[in-house]
Amino acid sequence: MTNLAVEVAGIKLKNPVLTASGCYGFGQEYNRLYDISRLGGIMTKGTTLEPRLGNPTPRLAETPAGILNSIGLQNPGIDRVIEEEIPWLRQFDVAIIANISGYSFDEFEEMATRLDGVPGVDALEINISCPNVKGGGMAFGTDPNTAALVVKRVRAKTKLPLIVKLSPNVTDITEIARAVESEGADAVSLINTILGMAIDIKNRRPVLANVLGGLSGPAVKPVAVRMVYQVSKAVKVPIIGMGGITSFEDAIEFMLAGASAVAIGAGNFVNPFTPLEVITGLEEWLDKEGIKDIRELVGALKA
Ligand code: FUM
Repeated sequence: MTNLAVEVAGIKLKNPVLTASGCYGFGQEYNRLYDISRLGGIMTKGTTLEPRLGNPTPRLAETPAGILNSIGLQNPGIDRVIEEEIPWLRQFDVAIIANISGYSFDEFEEMATRLDGVPGVDALEINISCPNVKGGGMAFGTDPNTAALVVKRVRAKTKLPLIVKLSPNVTDITEIARAVESEGADAVSLINTILGMAIDIKNRRPVLANVLGGLSGPAVKPVAVRMVYQVSKAVKVPIIGMGGITSFEDAIEFMLAGASAVAIGAGNFVNPFTPLEVITGLEEWLDKEGIKDIRELVGALKA
């Protein structure tokens, strides 16, 4: 039997396939289609201290190989996530990674404090990379000092493993990765969406009400693989790779580039069974190749 289990930031995952924050809600809708216990883990929708309705519509636009979104962190707020979403999720045998997004250092700190010790939460994913909100969001993740300070402040408030979600909208992602590692990040996840724009030529207006949005899907995959590769050379902490994964072959690319685990985001919208197909595909491929342990692939790129 091939071993699919991996460990990231001290969290044991039965397989390396997670679902990316923002593309899977809190798992309820997908659990109507299949047993979500089959996943390695779920990274929950980015949660803020207060509930948010998100940005005005339209806030989604299709692109030839992906999707542009400017959701604006619509979410029920941290208290409801703790009282309803996490308790529902913990009936499943799946790692729960709570994604938190703050508008200030104090907000990040407060959410980490409230989540510390909540049964079922395995780790926090600190979202310093949302491109769709003014103030907070990506602003924290594009400056190494600010990124490091968020991690330092959160680190002081919780013993939970910290995964920091990095923005691709920077000149040098390795600089940010090193900064957050130096303040106690246990892992990094990358990439969040790439800032983009679409224009309706008939009325000469932006398609998205927010004008700009974040691009995800297969279009971003080569950028994401490149960044995972660069970050893997720059830091020692494990990487959760994401960005356009729709097949087991994509997942293998990310792992060869240096990711210890992968997350499926926009792929869920095209085919909700993508994560399961990736898990099965990995299992069959490893078996066929005679690879006994999936961890052999991590960083095994010959370059
Ligand atoms: O707009 C959003 O809700 C997206 C969040 C993110 O990219 O982190």
